[in-house]
Amino acid sequence: MLKKDISFRHMRLDKKNIIVTAAAQGIGRATALKFANEGAKVLATDINEDKLNDLKNENKSIQTMKLDSTNKKDVETFCSSVDKIDVLFHAVGFVHHGTILDCDEDEFARSINVNIFSAYLMTYNLLPKMLKEKKGNIVIVSSAASNVKGVPNRFIYGTTKAALNGFVKAIAIDHIKDGIRCNAILPGTVETPSWEGRVNMADDPVKARSDFIARQAMGRLAQPEEIASLATYLASDESDFVTGTLNLIDGGWTL
Ligand SMILES: NC(=O)c1ccc[n+]([C@@H]2O[C@H](COP(=O)([O-])OP(=O)(O)OC[C@H]3O[C@@H](n4cnc5c(N)ncnc54)[C@H](O)[C@@H]3O)[C@@H](O)[C@H]2O)c1
Repeated sequence: MLKKDISFRHMRLDKKNIIVTAAAQGIGRATALKFANEGAKVLATDINEDKLNDLKNENKSIQTMKLDSTNKKDVETFCSSVDKIDVLFHAVGFVHHGTILDCDEDEFARSINVNIFSAYLMTYNLLPKMLKEKKGNIVIVSSAASNVKGVPNRFIYGTTKAALNGFVKAIAIDHIKDGIRCNAILPGTVETPSWEGRVNMADDPVKARSDFIARQAMGRLAQPEEIASLATYLASDESDFVTGTLNLIDGGWTL
């Protein structure tokens, strides 16, 4: 039997304090909006202040703050100002294009920094606040391109996302008795501004776009709002029994 009646809850994230990173566009933005619509008190962060302002204009209840999730000092200052947190939704990530031979030391370090160190920094600084409450929930945006699927020209991206999958399981097992849950979302290809950018950078953007779509078993890409729906489930009490999981949402790409 469920501890509380969650079956017909209207506002699925009512009064939850949620920090969203990479909230200025794409998956993070759609998720911040969905969380707010489900009753959460959202604190949306990103390095892009202009686009954070656009988000705030779309939903005035969302608080925004400029934050580089890879900057140790800034993250420490930001987290020390956080009073209460129920959920961390961490979506910061960068897609490097190429094989190992296209990835020099600087590119390697950049992807480790943006994709892994940011998750470490945010979690390292916010987890103690959750432990104090004996309740907390961390959702990390990883990728199907990881230990789940080898994707051509995604050497360091797939490597870092595989590491994040290990990160999620490690946090989940270490703190399972402390009331902390930690799960990953593994999207396939999502139609976001950065995806548009990757398509437009190709020699033949029209072909690149149709190639991306052709590799999708469903014949279409995901929309950011579809990832936000899964995020809402994982952030809510509906998923109270779910921890350490890698949640594929890829339209059958990895079948
Ligand atoms: N789009 C896809 O097809 C896809 C697929 C699988 C996984 N993902 C993952 O989803 C996440 C979001 O991707 P997206 O495509 O929705 O977003 P995006 O790439 O369009 O936007 C990323 C956002 O992150 C912000 N950002 C970048 N570096 C930052 C930093 N250091 N600190 C704070 N903010 C920073 C940017 O300003 C931007 O607003 C990423 O982790 C990505 O790897 C995306």
